Amino acid sequence: MNIKNHPPLLLFLFSLVLVTACKTNRPETLSATPQFGLLADRAMVVSAREEASQIGIEILKKGGNAFDAMIATDMALNLTYPFAGSLGGGGFMVYRKANGEIGSLDYREKAPMAATKKMYQDATGEPIDSLSRQGGLAVGVPGTIAGMFAVHKKMGSLPLSEILKPVIALAKRGYAVSQNQLERYQSYAATFDKVNGKESLYSIGFRESDSLQKKSGDTIKNPQLAKTLERILKNGKNEFYRGETAQKLVDYLQAKGGIMTMDDLAGYEAVWRDPVTFNYDGLRVISMPPPSSGGVALAQILKMINPYKLKKYGHNSEKAIQVIVEAERRAYADRSFFLGDPDFNDIPVATLISDSYLKDRMDDFSFKKATPSAQVDHGQVSGYESMETTHYSIIDQQGNAIAVTTTLNGAYGSKLYADDLGFFLNNEMDDFSAKPGYPNMFGLIGAEANSIEPQKRMLSSMTPTIVEKDGKLWMSVGTPGGSTIITSVMQTILNVNTFNMTMQEAVDAPRFHHQWMPDVVIFEPNAFSTSLLENLEKKGYHTEQENSVILGKVDGIRVLPNGKLEGGADRRGDDTAVGF
Ligand code: GLY
Repeated sequence: MNIKNHPPLLLFLFSLVLVTACKTNRPETLSATPQFGLLADRAMVVSAREEASQIGIEILKKGGNAFDAMIATDMALNLTYPFAGSLGGGGFMVYRKANGEIGSLDYREKAPMAATKKMYQDATGEPIDSLSRQGGLAVGVPGTIAGMFAVHKKMGSLPLSEILKPVIALAKRGYAVSQNQLERYQSYAATFDKVNGKESLYSIGFRESDSLQKKSGDTIKNPQLAKTLERILKNGKNEFYRGETAQKLVDYLQAKGGIMTMDDLAGYEAVWRDPVTFNYDGLRVISMPPPSSGGVALAQILKMINPYKLKKYGHNSEKAIQVIVEAERRAYADRSFFLGDPDFNDIPVATLISDSYLKDRMDDFSFKKATPSAQVDHGQVSGYESMETTHYSIIDQQGNAIAVTTTLNGAYGSKLYADDLGFFLNNEMDDFSAKPGYPNMFGLIGAEANSIEPQKRMLSSMTPTIVEKDGKLWMSVGTPGGSTIITSVMQTILNVNTFNMTMQEAVDAPRFHHQWMPDVVIFEPNAFSTSLLENLEKKGYHTEQENSVILGKVDGIRVLPNGKLEGGADRRGDDTAVGF
């Protein structure tokens, strides 16, 4: 019998080989049988909301490509995931087309022209956190709509009207509030009232004092957002940056103490940039360049840990954690000093990720004890002077892949909700360094490279990443999580590549995080043994387990050896993979 003529038998044998291969060398904490996420034959979208993944797939089924699906998914997240997805924010996209061509798009927010270096400091030079985090002054010039138009112009295949149709219909019809969302809206309702007044869409029915309480499963309609999208469809990108929507936005922000002007909006452009690429353990990693710190830090960490035998030490073992934490410490020290907007700073990216620079960075590490962060400085480069976010991954039926991370910065951004327009505004200005050495909301400290300047982009940690194996597409991955984004993406890649996990297991596995300053290692609560944490403490690691800390919500897609796609939708949220 020629088994080539028996596809079901072939599939069975292949699955057997796959499961057997996965069973070997699996971490003891996992079941012997690999637990796969959603499997699909041809195409997949994984995002923070089922409706958004579904709409992306709908566009692919209509014959659209991954870039069309990106626009539809992104706009659907504006509606169904206002926590992070919004026209009022910005983001990054990394792509790898089916023919192997790669690239990235930067539609990060920019500082308004009237922004100044000390705008968040009081008369004595002390930063006032609330100014960069809540209300009108916190808002950077939004980039999302410019990003969507740039993607459509360069790579789109369907007309925008086809792409936006299901989103506009859903905004009118309404989406169902999940239990997670309900609890969040309830916990932020008082803040929304404080910032916006009492009649805002996301306050009504979510305050304890309201007689009519919204419940999980209730429908939220957003006709205002539908109207904004219809105007954008009719008048193009200029509607958001020069038209009626721009004017409404500027009037609204100025009434809330903001400094954004029509000129700021008119001057905004998204920028195509060359991604950061590097090789690691048989993989080619393609990730976001500055103004994200993601690609550079990911490269630095992976290259610093490469000489160590992580597989032998074991997943989340004491030795593996030590190696990873020490590499993270050194990478974040560099992040703090060197990285910022490349249009304003000369950033030595090639040097920072070069083998020769990284070779000596771990020289002072010993398994006997932690290197205190206070003793770790940025590296020496000759000639050089100087939560909330969401991620989605898409692979289409042609083999085009994208990884997109987009953000408002904090939960619901500045908390300003432009009722008339139907979306929240970011508080991305807090990602700048308000003062050298002073921490932002993620505890990250920055230097001159990330100081505030008019029209400058604030440094980001967003790390949308695509990985090739043997020259072929292998994974699209990313996550929200502020400063923890980089380390969560890094651990997910390691989980699949080094620790033999499925995509779903990799995104679900417990994570830890270190960022140089503050000198603490954060562990997901109740996921690491007391004895492990005690041993690390004895070696000088300051460990913390906080219930409130969620180390990312990773979404990704992996291409299996048989060409099928496996989705990994993080168990920590409402994240959902949809495919066909
Ligand atoms: N706002 C989070 C980041 O861009 O890193």
